[in-house]
Amino acid sequence: MRIDIITVMPELLESPLNHSMMKRAQEKGLLEVHLHHLRQFAINKHGQVDDMQYGGGAGMVIMCEPLSKAIESLQAVRKYDEVIYLTPDGKTLNQPMANKLSLCENLLMICGHYKGIDQRIRDLYVTLEISIGDYVLSGGELAAAVLVDSIGRLIPGVLNDETSALTDSHQDGLLAPPVYTRPAEFKNLKVPDILLSGHFALIEAWRHEEALKRTAERRPDMIS
Ligand code: ADE
Repeated sequence: MRIDIITVMPELLESPLNHSMMKRAQEKGLLEVHLHHLRQFAINKHGQVDDMQYGGGAGMVIMCEPLSKAIESLQAVRKYDEVIYLTPDGKTLNQPMANKLSLCENLLMICGHYKGIDQRIRDLYVTLEISIGDYVLSGGELAAAVLVDSIGRLIPGVLNDETSALTDSHQDGLLAPPVYTRPAEFKNLKVPDILLSGHFALIEAWRHEEALKRTAERRPDMIS
């Protein structure tokens, strides 16, 4: 999969995309992430990409011209499955959306900043608007990093043990059960006996029960 990201703050994306799982995905050749600095497409030699909003009000808006040039220069080279704008008024990201996007070949992501981007860019180019939750970040970069990570780890071959994505919270519509490692006893707290039994069918049944219990307690909205 190839992901192109248009941003005014590429530095904010560099670290999260170049470590851990996303680094491994790129090293394995399963994921390519390309950052494009919007200032390359600035309207003047001062690097201007934003302006005051019509109608007045605090906060700058990213202008049509640099964004449209950036988007069209990328669209001239390849066809994107989705042109995604990260915005708090988008559709809230969830695991089914990440699963679906992990099947795409080419994604283009646009990070807003300041007050956001001119509405006409959204009308003309954007095919999907995604929020990572009901809170406002300073820009779309951290949201894009979250989105890339949630998608990238689902690309087949990225995770070491392919089944581990299948047992993640949300992957089967339930929260994940508790997990334990050594030692078997810590500060008087014991690992449940069943996990030491070696009886895999019973362990799976226990995990399913715990996942149901945890989901019912913490996220009753997820139990239909
Ligand atoms: N940009 C600012 N806040 C955001 C959010 N919650 N999700 C996606 N993009 C954003």
